[in-house]
Amino acid sequence: MKIFLDSTNIEEIREINKLGIIDGITTNPSLIAKSGKGFNQILKSICKEVKGPVSAEVTAESFENMLSEAKILSKISKNIVIKLPLTFNGLKACKHLTKKNYKTNVTLCFTVPQAILAAKAGATYISPFIGRLDDANVDGVQLIREIKLIFSHYNYETKILAASIRTKNHVTQSALAGADVVTIPPKVFSSLVNHNLTDKGL
Ligand code: E4P
Repeated sequence: MKIFLDSTNIEEIREINKLGIIDGITTNPSLIAKSGKGFNQILKSICKEVKGPVSAEVTAESFENMLSEAKILSKISKNIVIKLPLTFNGLKACKHLTKKNYKTNVTLCFTVPQAILAAKAGATYISPFIGRLDDANVDGVQLIREIKLIFSHYNYETKILAASIRTKNHVTQSALAGADVVTIPPKVFSSLVNHNLTDKGL
């Protein structure tokens, strides 16, 4: 299983990346807005720090504008993955960009049929949102299990990227369900390292 950090905080990314076990980064427009820095500037510094895939999300909702944004984002660095929303236009853009050899991450996935459509559109990654489903009293990890099973029936190559991770248990359950990637916010990542019995043992 690959581990991505779900963050735009370059200081935190740098610190955790010193472990040498971070495989990539996911960002989203809200995380970038919170950081108070420019979109391109942040993505550039992240791509310099982490050599693996860095997801950068389009904000446009029309097909044409998604493509224009994808073009601009992809010029930032060769490890940029274009993150597209799971909408009709997002799927259309995914199919189009896949044909042109772009790497894509189709985000905001909340159901199995949505994941199947993203796989058919050639998405490199599909991002089911575990935490937000749990918030709505739906078992988020069950969605990962079902997508995993269905993708294995049809040998879909799209990787399952468990997103909206809120707890240590989400990480355990995503790994048990066979997620290919788990994207973890720095705060949750730090909680993975520690255990009181480890401290006591010291
Ligand atoms: C990652 O790609 C997603 O944007 C992120 O995990 C969403 O997390 P949230 O539901 O905590 O906002």
